[in-house]
Amino acid sequence: MLVERIGEIACAHPDTLVASSMGVEDTLLIHAMMQSPQRLGVFMLDTGRLHAETLSMIDTIRERYGIEVQVVHPESDAIRDYVDTHGADAFYESVELRKACCGIRKVEPLRRALAGRSAWITGQRREQSVTRAELPESQWDEAFGLRKYNPLAHWSTEDVWAISRALGVPYNPLHDRGYPSIGCECCTRAVRPGEDVRAGRWWWERSDSRECGLHLAANEAAQAQPSTPASV
Ligand code: ADX
Ligand code: SF4
Repeated sequence: MLVERIGEIACAHPDTLVASSMGVEDTLLIHAMMQSPQRLGVFMLDTGRLHAETLSMIDTIRERYGIEVQVVHPESDAIRDYVDTHGADAFYESVELRKACCGIRKVEPLRRALAGRSAWITGQRREQSVTRAELPESQWDEAFGLRKYNPLAHWSTEDVWAISRALGVPYNPLHDRGYPSIGCECCTRAVRPGEDVRAGRWWWERSDSRECGLHLAANEAAQAQPSTPASV
């Protein structure tokens, strides 16, 4: 049960934060957290390149659940240096320049958001990508130095949507326009029928390089935990 699982996490680590990109997995996590007796903080990394629809989910979450999503921004000096040196859209030119942009707009802000915390929760799932095929539900996050929970790791796309719809969980309208996975506007395209859920993320790169540094590859992660069935 997702609500119970989040309650257990909150008891073990009351300072846990929920990371929300405002994709359906994350709104389901917020919904489940709001059913739990314990309240956890929710944050979103606003890279400065997100879709308006994604940003508007902050209001949707406030109106629906009465909570304020903490919005974390990148350092403006670092953005200015990148744009001056390489150009605003240099991420299309090489994997290195793309990862440098993600480093400034996502990874460094995440490090600030998680500073001093003992755990965080993400909406990652194994089905999403080859890089997540062995994702554990609980792991030590070596990169950021805290525990990381992925309670939806074993959930299928069908599970996520069936339960979200049954519970009336609000979701990002981009999902209805062909975006199963939502990132920065310039680096995400709609997918065609039959394509992989993350085919629209950094679509010009090989699928094995398509991670931005928020999440270590599963084979680098420690302490896999057994799976529990999908239910809220
Ligand atoms: S990403 O690394 O490729 O961007 P993805 O979009 O699949 O990740 O999202 C996986 C999980 O990472 C989300 O469920 C969420 O927990 C977290 N996440 C991704 N992007 C953000 C963001 N902009 N703000 C906060 N959390 C995020
Ligand atoms: Fe930069 Fe694209 Fe990464 Fe967003 S997804 S931080 S725009 S490279």
